[in-house]
Amino acid sequence: MRQTVLNLEESMIRQVANAGMGRSDVLKFWFGESDEATPAFIRDAAIASLQLGETFYAHNLGLPELRDAIAAYSTGLRCPGAAPIRVDRIAVTSGGVNALMLAVQALVDAGDEVVAVTPVWPNLTAQPMIMGAKLRCVSLKPVAGEWRLDMAELLAAITPATKLLIVNAPNNPTGWTMSRAEQASILAHCRLTGTWILADEVYERLYFDHTPNGCAPSFLDIADPEDRLVVAHSFSKSFLMTGWRLGWLVMPASMTPHMGKLVEFNTSCAPVFIQRAGLVALQGTNDVTPQLVAHLKTCRDTLVPLLQALPGVEVATPKGGMYAFFRLSDQDRFGDSLETAKRLVVEAGLGLAPGNAFMVNPTPQAQGWMRWCFASHDVVRLEQGVQRLQRWLAL
Ligand SMILES: Cc1ncc(COP(=O)(O)O)c(C=O)c1O
Repeated sequence: MRQTVLNLEESMIRQVANAGMGRSDVLKFWFGESDEATPAFIRDAAIASLQLGETFYAHNLGLPELRDAIAAYSTGLRCPGAAPIRVDRIAVTSGGVNALMLAVQALVDAGDEVVAVTPVWPNLTAQPMIMGAKLRCVSLKPVAGEWRLDMAELLAAITPATKLLIVNAPNNPTGWTMSRAEQASILAHCRLTGTWILADEVYERLYFDHTPNGCAPSFLDIADPEDRLVVAHSFSKSFLMTGWRLGWLVMPASMTPHMGKLVEFNTSCAPVFIQRAGLVALQGTNDVTPQLVAHLKTCRDTLVPLLQALPGVEVATPKGGMYAFFRLSDQDRFGDSLETAKRLVVEAGLGLAPGNAFMVNPTPQAQGWMRWCFASHDVVRLEQGVQRLQRWLAL
């Protein structure tokens, strides 16, 4: 087996979850998903498709009607003046993670330099490593109660030798989002260095600041259609469809036929009945996302002040996403976040994700972080979770 694969670490979130699986007394906030099932009108579309016998292979790039719907949906979310997203830039994928892996397969050779903004969902750093890339991480920093990107540090890290920049905003786990000005400088810089940008924008609509289109700033608002930009999206988060495995990519049109070849060799296509469900989700008169975002905002505004009130807990208010990323400041007791997360499961009945899962070679300052997914249907569970944490910290 390839040494790179042997070297891959088992997911730390899984290690914690495995310690608490099957225990009904644990309040679980470790995975990045809501505890609400997919809305019935979306499930019904998949059932209807299966009833019709739509059980065959589909086009590598997705059903034409779904690609059209994605192009229209994505165009509808753009800021005034942005280029419309044409259908020849779209590939349907089997989830956001598959979209990201396809992009990395298309862009990264063994030995290529890749820069990633961290902390970040671990798959985003594992994927280039699987391809044999040399990975360099630029860390976000918590400053005065919010996460910030040191632009000078990032731009200095991206040189003509950098093949790909990977950036996820709104960010999992910190909730950091990128400003339009930051996007514009990154795009201008990457045009000069010839670096591709892989923007993971799966949380673009789970954004709590008021904007005209209800979205976090997207690279698609400012890039030209043929810029070296690939954007990964997912149905998982905005439409409560994590288990369905459906996502999409937006890329330069010249790249799309080649992406179709890669889809063929990875999954061949997304299942038709799943695509039918995605189509209904996008076209539904009942847009599930605004309601979801309003509820997530309530969850955030319940959880974050309660955490902020706990002595020894530091937390920045997330602008987007579904996570609170907080630090337990007593490093002697809680520095090893994996250990702390396992103890919290066993000793407090609280299931959180360890911060180290989102960092590559964490520095001492990066120790002691925990991620709490606040996408809970029942807000009371969040309050109960904080009570458990408070009691445990006081032990
Ligand atoms: C930042 C980020 N990107 C992509 C994904 C992939 O989502 P999915 O594969 O469910 O579409 C996730 C899931 O947690 C994520 O947090």
